[in-house]
Amino acid sequence: MTIHPAIAPGNIAVITGGANGIGLAAARRLAGMGLRVVVADRDREQLALARGALGEGHLAIETDVADPASVAALAAEVAVLGPVSVLMNNAGVGRGGDVLAPRAAWDGVLGVNLLGVLNGVQQFVPAMVEGDAPGLVINTGSKQGITQPPGDTAYNVSKAGVKALTEGLAHTLREKTGGRVTAHLLIPGFTYTGMIARHLPQQPPSAWTPDQVVDSMLEGIARGSFYLWCLDNETTREVDNKRVLWNALDIVEDRPALSRWHPDWKDAFASFLAE
Ligand code: NAI
Repeated sequence: MTIHPAIAPGNIAVITGGANGIGLAAARRLAGMGLRVVVADRDREQLALARGALGEGHLAIETDVADPASVAALAAEVAVLGPVSVLMNNAGVGRGGDVLAPRAAWDGVLGVNLLGVLNGVQQFVPAMVEGDAPGLVINTGSKQGITQPPGDTAYNVSKAGVKALTEGLAHTLREKTGGRVTAHLLIPGFTYTGMIARHLPQQPPSAWTPDQVVDSMLEGIARGSFYLWCLDNETTREVDNKRVLWNALDIVEDRPALSRWHPDWKDAFASFLAE
């Protein structure tokens, strides 16, 4: 089955945050499909392990996605190999904190999660548009960027930004390439990766593995979906859909912000879920 014309043996794939977790699982999968994979990450040790795991013919390049010059250097190094067919802007960090958290924490999260995606898009996508080959861009967002649970507002803002950026990119690419180059928003559920393992030493039963996310991502791309919505072992798609709808209905029905977590709306949300 052809998943996407850009996913073909010999083509080049660049994956940021590819030394761990979801990015590494995607790197292994694409390498297994015969693509030449470049993993870009700032974690030097993990990068060396990833390079070893991927084997001959693949590259691991130390990169800080938050630094435009570092991503420009990555693009220049990759350009020597040939045109990029698959770009996965996936590097991410959490723990920014709420609105009153230190400014440095916000800068860190927005710099990697949002501006890191912008840096990747601006460095790689123009050449994909100018070329004449199929192209695939996947940006990793999060359900938190859509349903906005309180706590890590910096992370929510960064991922809401990735959603808006990727929606805009999809439109631009549709206008400029007529579907030859496509953009997609990957929306993982709860996934057991390095990000989570730092706080939970064992995989909880509710979490998916990174490989399950990659399976779901590739199925979504093959279907032609823009929103690559993934599940986990806890939350069904029906419940996810109701959470998304409830959030949108806050505006339509003039409810308080984040009413899902407002004590006065607790029962109304519970009945909405049960409907
Ligand atoms: P992970 O921690 O295993 O992998 C993230 C990778 O990004 C790491 O290798 C890290 O070194 C790299 N990275 C961080 N900052 C970087 C920078 N400035 N430059 C280059 N590389 C950098 O975590 P995971 O879970 O695989 O995360 C991948 C993406 O999935 C992230 O964007 C994350 O926000 C997103 N996500 C993860 C979920 C989960 O439950 N694990 C749920 C929803 C979204």
